[in-house]
Amino acid sequence: MKTQIIKVDTSIKDWDKQLDQAAEILRSGGLVAFPTETVYGLGANALDKTAVEAIYRAKGRPSDNPLIIHISDAAAVKDLTENIPETAQALMDAFWPGPLTLVMPRSQLVPDIVTAGLDTVAVRMPSHPIASALIRKAGVPVAAPSANSSGRPSPTLAKHVIEDLMGKVDVIIDGGNAEVGVESTVLDITVIPPVILRPGGVTLEQLKSVLGDVIGGQSPGMSDMSGTPKSPGMKYRHYSPRATMLLVEGPPEQVAAEIGKRAELYNKEGTSVGLLVTDETAALYEPSLYSFCKVISLGSRKEPETLASNLFRCLREFDEKGVEVIMAETTDVEGIGLAVMNRLMKAAGGNIIKL
Ligand code: TXA
Ligand code: MG
Repeated sequence: MKTQIIKVDTSIKDWDKQLDQAAEILRSGGLVAFPTETVYGLGANALDKTAVEAIYRAKGRPSDNPLIIHISDAAAVKDLTENIPETAQALMDAFWPGPLTLVMPRSQLVPDIVTAGLDTVAVRMPSHPIASALIRKAGVPVAAPSANSSGRPSPTLAKHVIEDLMGKVDVIIDGGNAEVGVESTVLDITVIPPVILRPGGVTLEQLKSVLGDVIGGQSPGMSDMSGTPKSPGMKYRHYSPRATMLLVEGPPEQVAAEIGKRAELYNKEGTSVGLLVTDETAALYEPSLYSFCKVISLGSRKEPETLASNLFRCLREFDEKGVEVIMAETTDVEGIGLAVMNRLMKAAGGNIIKL
């Protein structure tokens, strides 16, 4: 398949005309990757079963992992759902458009392939101007998982989508960096109190301010990887760089000592090592001592939004450098830090040392 790359510049007059062709391709059953405020998505007409099947094929995604439907107008929820839970309106008012996905009872309009046979549907209204304009122009609800090959770190730049999906989709829209950097928060509102199925761009604290009570998401751990999780996607190893990953948690000096000791052992074996650190701790890994490692800082711990924004891009940078083992510090779980730790835990397959 020939993949067309369309660079969209939102600063020029009538910029949205640049989306007309992609919108037509979407409406008529094609696959279009596009930027959202969280990560890039791989879109298809959600009401077209054959188009949605093509998403699963292009990504190599297991068919039991349902997709989020993206809309450009909250009024579309009515058609996609039934018995809309009472909490929905307040959440939509507070967080839409934005990185919150609501799981609600589905309507018959939604094809089984979108929900992987579940009786619920996940819906979100993205705030990114390109995503919003594309969906509006297509005139159909758009099913879109993250636009990576299944299991790989989610794409925050068009070049990541090109790496994973070139030749497998009709169009890739290049709209620059996806700022939030981690995916939307998936919230099940079919139960009281609502349950966070995946921490993300809207924080637990923000949800509590609207809902009072919210369950789950307090721990970024791996407990949701076994059994039959409510959010099927969370059971897979995910977001993974090609390298093996190990997290080290504890007081910064001890963490640095432990990482240093292990890095030297790896180096002796001829294994190439990457270190994922933060601005505050970078000085603990002196370049003269760690010249054999690829050291990348995620940003400042004082700005968890920056850590989130950089995370997936940094994981892919280690791959570009051919790193075989990544050792990473852990982060605080306040605010969006919870989503960052959740992704780190998944990327590491739960591989963590606590000092
Ligand atoms: O920010 C995002 O949410 C991005 C952008 C592109 O919008 N999309 C995204 O989609 O992350 P995906 O497919 O990579 O992750 C969707 C998650 C999966 O964990 C899936 O299992 C869960 O949402 N999900 C979808 N439908 C569900 C449902 N009906 N019930 C429970 N979980 C559901
Ligand atoms: Mg994904």
